[in-house]
Amino acid sequence: MASTPTRFERALLRDGDLLLREPVEADVPAIVAGCRDRLTQEWLPLPDPYDESHARGFVADFAPRQLDSGAGIVCALEHQGDYAGMIDCKKTDWRGRTTEIGYWVMPGHRGHGLAGRAARLLADWALCDQGIERVEIRAATGNFGSQKAALAAGFQREGVLRSAGFVHAGRVDLVVFGKLRSEVGSVGGAGSATGQRTS
Ligand SMILES: CC(C)(COP(=O)(O)OP(=O)(O)OC[C@H]1O[C@@H](n2cnc3c(N)ncnc32)[C@H](O)[C@@H]1OP(=O)(O)O)[C@@H](O)C(=O)NCCC(=O)NCCS
Repeated sequence: MASTPTRFERALLRDGDLLLREPVEADVPAIVAGCRDRLTQEWLPLPDPYDESHARGFVADFAPRQLDSGAGIVCALEHQGDYAGMIDCKKTDWRGRTTEIGYWVMPGHRGHGLAGRAARLLADWALCDQGIERVEIRAATGNFGSQKAALAAGFQREGVLRSAGFVHAGRVDLVVFGKLRSEVGSVGGAGSATGQRTS
């Protein structure tokens, strides 16, 4: 029996004009702008005010620690060469082979289906290449944009967890979406993702 992996491999993931790559220091100004945005602050309990030191710590400390510890992988989302947002796998359980995807998209890049495409790319790579069996997305019941992205990525809506999350305004119920390895390419249409290892 193959040994259980304990962390994600660093990778460049590509789907046409969409690229998921390691976040770098040059992303800091865009990360600050994206995390200060009203809609991002409404649905993600990020520091408020969000300043440059938060973004620098996110790139230099949090992201590498997530990868090294096995907790997940943090990716910058690029669209046609522009920084367009952030997506990650988090809360990874390597024994149970489960992980959870989270994302935000830069205000100027919203409404073009990027979150759904990026979630499909990352989820399908985790399921097909990294030994993960189940990926979840959790979105507040009022966050219809995020729920739309989860469905577009081929996830199935599974139910509502009461008071399972929190935002700045208080506790929220979360809709749980799941995608299984056996469903890659069969739910919501086949993806065209390609992964390329970088180390
Ligand atoms: C949720 C989010 C990631 C969706 O990303 P996206 O790439 O814009 O997703 P889509 O293009 O599929 O658009 C989803 C919905 O967002 C809304 N939307 C469209 N354009 C928008 C814009 N310019 N600004 C804000 N919302 C917009 C629409 O309701 C759209 O659904 P519709 O196409 O049926 O009208 C993005 O709105 C975001 O970053 N939100 C703040 C952070 C967040 O909520 N993260 C998820 C936490 S679970």
